[in-house]
Amino acid sequence: MTKKRFYITTPIYYPSGNAHIGHAYCTTICDIFARYKRERHFEVYFLTGTDEHGLKIEKNAKAAGKSPKEYVDEIVAKFKTLWDVMQISNDDFIRTTDERHIHVVQSVFSDFIKNDDVYLGQYEGWYCTPCESFWTDTQVGEEHLCPDCGRPVQKEMEDCYFFKTKKYLPELQTFFEKEGSIYPVSRKHEMENNFIKPGLEDLCVSRTSFSWGVPILENEKHVAYVWLDALFNYLSALGYRSSNETLYKKFWEDEESEIIHVIGADITRFHTIYWPEFLSALKLRLPDKVFVHGLLMMKDGKMSKSKGNVVSPFPLIEKYGVDALRYYFAREIIFGQDGQFTPEQFIERINMDLANNYGNLVSRTLSMIIKYFDGIIPEYKEGINDNDKIIEDLAKETKVSFENKMDDLHITEAYIDVMNLLNVANKYIEDNAPWALAKDETKIENLKSVMAHLAYVISISTAMLKPILVTKADKVFDYLSLNETERDYNNVFDTKVLANKKVSKGEVLFPRLNNDDVEFVKSLMTNK
Ligand code: MSP
Repeated sequence: MTKKRFYITTPIYYPSGNAHIGHAYCTTICDIFARYKRERHFEVYFLTGTDEHGLKIEKNAKAAGKSPKEYVDEIVAKFKTLWDVMQISNDDFIRTTDERHIHVVQSVFSDFIKNDDVYLGQYEGWYCTPCESFWTDTQVGEEHLCPDCGRPVQKEMEDCYFFKTKKYLPELQTFFEKEGSIYPVSRKHEMENNFIKPGLEDLCVSRTSFSWGVPILENEKHVAYVWLDALFNYLSALGYRSSNETLYKKFWEDEESEIIHVIGADITRFHTIYWPEFLSALKLRLPDKVFVHGLLMMKDGKMSKSKGNVVSPFPLIEKYGVDALRYYFAREIIFGQDGQFTPEQFIERINMDLANNYGNLVSRTLSMIIKYFDGIIPEYKEGINDNDKIIEDLAKETKVSFENKMDDLHITEAYIDVMNLLNVANKYIEDNAPWALAKDETKIENLKSVMAHLAYVISISTAMLKPILVTKADKVFDYLSLNETERDYNNVFDTKVLANKKVSKGEVLFPRLNNDDVEFVKSLMTNK
């Protein structure tokens, strides 16, 4: 059952280095989903932000000769610029160094102490600083490598508070049993087999060996473990435990709101095990869905600065535009699976889908309407010609399947359907040869019908592509002379909207790219 409202979150990013296309991937997909829901007139609250505490940041800042706050401020500013450039439509940007957030972490930690959810102990084990994760002897193996990122871990021994993970096991199990709570289910099984079935160990939730974190009020020697700190951003951003809890009540407490966390596969454990446990300890509602996406890999594995295989999104956007990069993310990497970034596939995807399929259809159709009908779109009439039926049926089917797939966050599959409709429309031009119809006066009605059907496909495809094509979609609607109301998602599927509109030719939407472009993208991948 679809709810009225949506609370959609990205993970909050570590400002420990500049953002790369992997970060942009995650945020863009959430943005596409948020924009789609808004287009459908749902109320949406879309959150992103930065996770600024922890040993990694403290160390990096020291190496850069800066205070941790100075260090993160600079990088956070760059993240914000990137989201502006990518036209990310977040409603808020939370920083874990915000007072509003620190207050929440301190206050919930006090409750954990009061309610006996945590106890003081001593941690002895392995710590992966880049992942800010604790591991046991068995998990790190003889080589002492982090099971998540493969980098060496350090032996740590320090006083800390432990969270009683077994206390909330029944709530956790209910969460796991609820259909759709963790998607894809393979991730759910992974968590069950690797962590729950072997028996959950209590989690160390404070640190005493460094100071860059949220101080625990009851025991100032301790700062909150960065993952506990970070997860609460989803509540602090809504004003939870503040003087104004309106957003919290509306988007978290109210069952009419659907809470969706979109995360990368590497952080599944924190979102599907510890986060539901922390929330259960506070007797709060759990998220409806944790959607786990795959990682964007390079030929030589995961993107990492040390390997020099990190690609910055900025030069790609500057050269190919924000729409192209956003489309590439949505379509090329199947949402939910890992994907590989290669310059060849990046260029090929833009050429094939945006330049050839969509761009070409728009340009051919508008030119023909101008040539044959002085730019006036003929009226769309259903069931006149048998050969128009394929478009009529497919247009209807595509709307339904697109919406069903988008609602289930099957974003890639949804856009495959839109591309299929455009493909069929291109073929429909070839099959109907309007240039031949135009030479035969008795075929004028057929020609009108073909043009009306093509304009309709362009218009509805543009509406479906709009959450991705944040700059070009409105241009196409301008070429079709649709006003704000007419281009609204709820109106644009009405077959009467386009009748008698005067089209204009406009610019080439997506110029065809070539081998020089492949070389350009390759040049971005070395020693960066
Ligand atoms: N700070 C934590 C998240 C805390 S959320 C309460 C963190 N930050 S991160 O900057 O390392 O990663 C943020 C998100 O970016 C994660 O979902 C991660 O999976 C995603 N990605 C980082 N590299 C990525 C790729 N190469 N590909 C796709 N997503 C990637 O984890």
